[in-house]
Amino acid sequence: MTDRQLVDLAFQMLKRSYVPYSHFPVGAALECADGTVFTGCNVENAAYGSTICAERTALVKAVSEGRRDNFVRLAVVGTGTDYCWPCGSCRQMLYEFAPDLEVLVARGDGDFVKLPLAKLLPYGFGPKDLSIHP
Ligand code: THU
Repeated sequence: MTDRQLVDLAFQMLKRSYVPYSHFPVGAALECADGTVFTGCNVENAAYGSTICAERTALVKAVSEGRRDNFVRLAVVGTGTDYCWPCGSCRQMLYEFAPDLEVLVARGDGDFVKLPLAKLLPYGFGPKDLSIHP
């Protein structure tokens, strides 16, 4: 799958976003090494802090289906004029399972940039930093 195809899968998720509060839909697509893709969208809540981002939706879908340690690429897309940068919580959650992940960050016109998660979250804290590994 090309980078563009993964970004397009993330774009297709915008219509699934539940965003009555922010009106800011986000879509994501997380690819495993074997080509399996788990998609996600943001799902908001009247208790605002209970909202889950699109990237974490995709990640927890994957992990809950038994996939853990073989994620290679993630696409995240928004509808704005700026690139839809992953929030800190999503960077941290992704780092747990895929510190070597490549991240494709798109904006509403379809343009995207590609950069490693390690650049988005330098010196990240992960399982390696605990004496007890998962
Ligand atoms: N959002 C995401 O889905 N991913 C991010 O990384 C940044 C923020 C969502 C959460 C909320 O529904 C909306 O964007 C506005 O913050």
